[in-house]
Amino acid sequence: MGISFKEVTHKYPGVKRKQFTIALDNINLDISDKNEFVAIVGKTGSGKSTLIEHMNGLILPTSGTVGVFDYVITPKERKNPKLNKIRKRIGFVFQFPEYQLFEETVIKDIMFAPRNFGMSIDEAKVRSIDVAKKLHIEDLLNKSPFNLSGGQMRKVAIAGILSYDPDILLLDEPTRGLDPKGQLEIMELFKRIQEETNKTIIMISHDMDLVYKYATRVVAMKDAKIIYDGNKIDLFKSDKYKECNLVKPNVLSLIDYLNEKGNYNIGYDTYSLEDLITKLEGGGDSNE
Ligand SMILES: Nc1ncnc2c1ncn2[C@@H]1O[C@H](COP(=O)(O)OP(=O)(O)OP(=O)(O)O)[C@@H](O)[C@H]1O
Ligand SMILES: [Mg+2]
Repeated sequence: MGISFKEVTHKYPGVKRKQFTIALDNINLDISDKNEFVAIVGKTGSGKSTLIEHMNGLILPTSGTVGVFDYVITPKERKNPKLNKIRKRIGFVFQFPEYQLFEETVIKDIMFAPRNFGMSIDEAKVRSIDVAKKLHIEDLLNKSPFNLSGGQMRKVAIAGILSYDPDILLLDEPTRGLDPKGQLEIMELFKRIQEETNKTIIMISHDMDLVYKYATRVVAMKDAKIIYDGNKIDLFKSDKYKECNLVKPNVLSLIDYLNEKGNYNIGYDTYSLEDLITKLEGGGDSNE
């Protein structure tokens, strides 16, 4: 049991009465709570954030239902105590992490969720420091979260969810604002967490290189609809990716070039430039 959207439509009210924006249009989607690394991609404004904000009841469907674990979120649930239980199992990092931080110090911020979900102060502190070390932000622990750079804020927001060890991680552009090394470090950390614990990770990203390297399934959105849901290779073999304003990952552009001009036969199952170099060193052949 994981996350299951059934005919979900979401309409945001407009400025004028009776005006609205359809941000999700009749969405059906199933994601397991184990072992998935799903990237949600698509044009700006296509509905990605709205989609994942339904996954922990942050916003409610206008019509349809969202099943999360054994609980069903319907258009009417406002204050249901069970929603809090769901949130304990689902960690959410917002697209704009500054909206998520509010404590006086970074350590208090990271400790907030585990404390809120009933962990003792001592345990929450140990876990928070441990997570801060993994993210290389231990020197920020006594600073105010509001005096940080955008990238540092994002790392604190990520630490804030890893500290309570949720079953599913929802990440809205988790690498945005981080320097290139920081982006790779964070992605490697998510990958390690996923491999070691079989948690499901659902990540929105505009970075096709990271999507191609790390995701195992891609959901592509256009105009409030899902227009592709499947493996990352087929998305880029078809022309669907162009419809969503996506560009091919660099590794695939290079593979196209080598296959065309260099007489190679390298398959799209080559997910990063490092993989490609290894393949070329090994002779360059690969089945597609
Ligand atoms: N709070 C809101 N009130 C009204 N309309 C909204 C609100 N949030 C989003 N929308 C509209 O809903 C649509 C989908 O927005 P959403 O934020 O889900 O897109 P997105 O795919 O996450 O875009 P981005 O890549 O820019 O983050 C857009 O047309 C947007 O203008
Ligand atoms: Mg968004």
